[in-house]
Amino acid sequence: MGIGDLKSTLKEMQQGGRALLAANFYNLETLQGIARAASELNEPIILQLTRGSIEYIGLQTAVSMARSVIYEYGLQAWLHLDHGDSLDLVKRCLDAGFDSVMIDASDRSFEENVDVTKQVKELAQKYGATVEAELGYVAKLGQSQSTLGFTDAQEARRFVQETDVDMLAVAIGSAHGFYQHEPALDMKRLQEIRSLTNVPLVLHGGSGIPEQQLREAVTYGICKINVATETKNAFMQALRKTMAESEEIDLRKVFPAGVEAVRRLIKEKLKIVRVDAEM
Ligand code: 13P
Repeated sequence: MGIGDLKSTLKEMQQGGRALLAANFYNLETLQGIARAASELNEPIILQLTRGSIEYIGLQTAVSMARSVIYEYGLQAWLHLDHGDSLDLVKRCLDAGFDSVMIDASDRSFEENVDVTKQVKELAQKYGATVEAELGYVAKLGQSQSTLGFTDAQEARRFVQETDVDMLAVAIGSAHGFYQHEPALDMKRLQEIRSLTNVPLVLHGGSGIPEQQLREAVTYGICKINVATETKNAFMQALRKTMAESEEIDLRKVFPAGVEAVRRLIKEKLKIVRVDAEM
């Protein structure tokens, strides 16, 4: 299946009130669970790796693994660097064959964020890769959710104009990891951002956001939704349960429960984001 241009796919999705799921993977088994779900629903998907996962798997191994799984399952899928934190990492990923990269300078000043995003954009262009940046601050895993800094719509417009970035992650009340209280996404802010820029918008911290809010956010222009924590959780809970119930030492008999849990989870998420003429 042809890979197609990610930016135009995202734009199409945005115009059609749909979104791409961007699923983080951590090992072959989580990748297989994600791939099975996408293949069963025949849905396109973004496969993401953070620095931590790249260091865990190994860059070349991770890319080869993703490419092989994409081929074997006949997926329309893109390989994306999630939360790239340096030009060096971005360059290594592009050299290794990533289709898309995020440069996350959301903890720096507006000017610094613009500056580094422009540099990444210029670099990525040589590889025909797309670039995501983040404006405002979505709390990272383990950080207090009070470190949230919501995206200002006027700033978002300026940021996109100055960087020509392909997709923009916005802070509208989501956070990475599980929520202590049910999140309430700031839909008004999202609509304001959307009214001032045509850029594909990204929602981080997709785990634990109620389905209805995800659907609403998609209708207001979110066209890439990141999910990570729930995948890790589904995989590990299934392994724990299987291991508690038997003395099995053949990991090929234990891991399939984890793969199956990820498949089920991602299938549910895919059904939400492909949304819905029915709404
Ligand atoms: P969660 O871990 O909260 O699903 O967030 C995923 C994410 O935004 C990855 O960038």
